[in-house]
Amino acid sequence: MARRANYEKYYETVDEEDGPFCKIINSHKYVVHNIRGYLSLKVVHFVMNLHTLPRTFYLTRHGQSEYNLLGKIGGDSGLTPAGIEYARRLAIFAKEEIARPRPEDQAHNGEVAKAFFRKENDDSESKGNEANKERPCRLWTSTLRRTQETAQFIDHSSFNHTFDNGEQFEWMQFRKKPRRNLDELYAGTCDGMTYQEIQDVYPEEFARRQADKLSYRYPRGESYMDVTLRLEPLAQEMERIREPLLIVGHQGILRIVYAYFMGLGRKEAPYVSIPLNNVIELTPHAYGCHEKRYCLMMKEEMLADGQDEPVTSMPVAAKNPGSATPITNMPNTPSKAMDRTQLLTRARKSIQEIDANYAEDDAIMNAPSC
Ligand code: F6P
Repeated sequence: MARRANYEKYYETVDEEDGPFCKIINSHKYVVHNIRGYLSLKVVHFVMNLHTLPRTFYLTRHGQSEYNLLGKIGGDSGLTPAGIEYARRLAIFAKEEIARPRPEDQAHNGEVAKAFFRKENDDSESKGNEANKERPCRLWTSTLRRTQETAQFIDHSSFNHTFDNGEQFEWMQFRKKPRRNLDELYAGTCDGMTYQEIQDVYPEEFARRQADKLSYRYPRGESYMDVTLRLEPLAQEMERIREPLLIVGHQGILRIVYAYFMGLGRKEAPYVSIPLNNVIELTPHAYGCHEKRYCLMMKEEMLADGQDEPVTSMPVAAKNPGSATPITNMPNTPSKAMDRTQLLTRARKSIQEIDANYAEDDAIMNAPSC
């Protein structure tokens, strides 16, 4: 109430004679007046997707692929044995950590959450009881083999779910939604090459990318700017949804998604450290985003990543204390299967946290999305 009174001191009502506007009343009612033009209409569409409920995103790259091991970029290869082991661990993490019901969901979602947290001795039908054990979660992958294979062991149970508008639904847990706009940045004629081969065969292209990684477009391929554009509808959908969302994606793609939520400048985005075998948990909140990183496969268990870039092109990874250490020349040892408890204990011990606070005057990042 005090906060509201504070706002009232400064807020001025906008009326029709003041020109175009979009009013949002209690996050449910929208009044759009005289809005024209491409950008203004996009802004209206964007704000209509925002909501004030807490939500969490989980970002992970696919497990190690055959191409990762060979140091090749792009392609559509399958997973190595270490990649398969990561997929198994991710399935445990999804069920035991991502889908674990949280007391704070109860506090925020009121009656809906109370129904969701029905007591064990509730004599409702078994479907309802199943809902007590997990919170409803979403799963998106790219259309490429390596992300599909990484998501293959994730459980898909079904239970009744009540949305916050009261609608009831048969919810399939972690229903897989492959999305083409999550496919990795396409390297065009360089697809399937190693960085060294690119440097040897196309030294000028290589140098141009080193000089301006954000705008550089591979011959017949894409640039980070292109990827940013194709991720725009995805970001809008992420703003809209309420359930925890796990994205199994790719390095380049997740850099952009990460940068969007952490409020990083576009120039920094192509250098963000998104190592294999880690899950990044992002929780947007008013004026910022909280990040936690869980490492599901420790350094010494990893096979050589094989895809390290020249150090000069990774300034943020080197500077950012919150980022996990980039993987370099790991011994080629096979990773061992791990039981549930061991995995979760180690993952929780591995947590690295950072908080991104958006600049006070950053209008976009300060939009009331939470
Ligand atoms: O090496 C793995 C990979 O996902 C490649 O397929 C992709 O080209 C690359 O990472 C993107 O990273 P960067 O933009 O740093 O080359």
